[in-house]
Amino acid sequence: MNKFLLVVLVLLTGCTNVIPEDISDHPVKGTYQFVEETEGNLSLVNDEVRVLVYQQFIRTYKLSKDPHYYYRPITILVNKEIGLPSNFVPQDLIRTQVATSPRASNVMIRKDVNVALKALFSAAKEEGVELWFQSGYRSYSVQKQLYERYVKQYGEAVANSFSAKPGHSEHQTGLAIDVTSPNSNSSFEGDFGDSKEGKWLAINAHRFGFIIRYPKDKTEITGYIYEPWHLRYVGVELATTLFESGLVMEELDN
Ligand code: DAL
Ligand code: ZN
Repeated sequence: MNKFLLVVLVLLTGCTNVIPEDISDHPVKGTYQFVEETEGNLSLVNDEVRVLVYQQFIRTYKLSKDPHYYYRPITILVNKEIGLPSNFVPQDLIRTQVATSPRASNVMIRKDVNVALKALFSAAKEEGVELWFQSGYRSYSVQKQLYERYVKQYGEAVANSFSAKPGHSEHQTGLAIDVTSPNSNSSFEGDFGDSKEGKWLAINAHRFGFIIRYPKDKTEITGYIYEPWHLRYVGVELATTLFESGLVMEELDN
């Protein structure tokens, strides 16, 4: 009952500062850690969470003791360095309402992403581009099984180039979707980017709040091969910024 939560800003220098109340009036980008205060003692309750455009989230978070708020922002950064706890499950998952591939295996997605996805799929269809939802939310344990299977099959180095380790996949946020189409053979390969569907996504996805998260020319930065089928929902504002600048999420925070 006496417990309350604070948000701690970790500066690039590595030192920590408590965010003052009035900072919520300014856009905040950075790396944060959440700490719990119990009778004057601070303790870390999670690994660091990096969030872009953060202010609204801070306000919401301060009003809530629900640990899932840590990971709710649609702008959350998850990559090889920054992960999610194994027990993190988004709270608003629903079965997607867009067309799914006959081989789709993980058809849950966050509610708001489903809405954006419906708009994207129907705009594509109007322009003669038919898309299929292949894989959305994947739990920590599903990602673990996948990753371990790839390591056995291809060795660790190759597996790491296209598969996230458990806890480090955007699919665990419920904000990422792999998209395919009736015209593709569903084995995900870079040439999806040259297909009609891949080309359409590359120039239109941002209008609906999605980015191609692992572009061809950014593999050194993201650590992953070109994945023209992997869409990440970040909202229209950030998606447009990234599309227009050609930057990836990792570059925005520098
Ligand atoms: N293929 C992406 C990197 C994942 O496994 O999340
Ligand atoms: Zn993916």
